[in-house]
Amino acid sequence: MSFDLPVVLGHRGARAVKTENTIEAFRYACQSNVRWVELDAMLSGDGVVMVFHDETLDRMAGIPGRVDEFSADRLQSLTLKTGAKIPTLAEVLDVLNEFRACVNIEIKPSRPDLARETAGQVWQVVRQAGFDDPDRLLFSSFAWDALEETMTLAPHIRRGVLVEDVSGDWRPAAKKLAAYSINYDADLLNPELIREIKDGGYRLLVYTVNDPNRAKDLRARGADAFFCDDPVAMTAAFS
Ligand code: G3P
Ligand code: MG
Repeated sequence: MSFDLPVVLGHRGARAVKTENTIEAFRYACQSNVRWVELDAMLSGDGVVMVFHDETLDRMAGIPGRVDEFSADRLQSLTLKTGAKIPTLAEVLDVLNEFRACVNIEIKPSRPDLARETAGQVWQVVRQAGFDDPDRLLFSSFAWDALEETMTLAPHIRRGVLVEDVSGDWRPAAKKLAAYSINYDADLLNPELIREIKDGGYRLLVYTVNDPNRAKDLRARGADAFFCDDPVAMTAAFS
């Protein structure tokens, strides 16, 4: 196997089809031949790596509180509004291993001071799951110090610098991190930026794109890949 990123990555599994960041979503994506999925990795209060997007529980679980105030056991005992459960990263990697699928782990510290610890715990889980494979794994984060930590712990695993409107200047970070990719918000991109990123030698991964025409237009301008909520439909649009 070699590192071979497709045009379409399943965003939080396939969040338009199954509850985001759940076993169901990743199983569905894998069974639908989606080779690469993205997920969000966040620590529980007792330091277990969970797969969950928000820092708080209200949107998904309908209860107040922060993820980092709950133990992993408590988080796993919750039933999300859709009826699904919050998985650990280890559980998700087991499913992905079953299908030999590939993953972009977005390291999402629930607080800025947890960036390095989150990265360290993620790396431990990755190693225990036998996912220590540069061909099947890409790290990314809006918390660039988390990526710095992965660079120390696992320099052979590619790094994607995530950028959103409050991120600041990605250029020095990308250089320092020897980034493989710049993962940019579709709504913030413009033709000059696309050119600059590509001229800099980086891959350009764009989130979140669900309109095939928009994806095709961005692709024609140089974007390499897209995070898509319905990766099956988007893949069909590109074939
Ligand atoms: O990694 C791409 C995308 O997931 C970044 O934004 O908020 O959906 O995690 P978010
Ligand atoms: Mg994400």
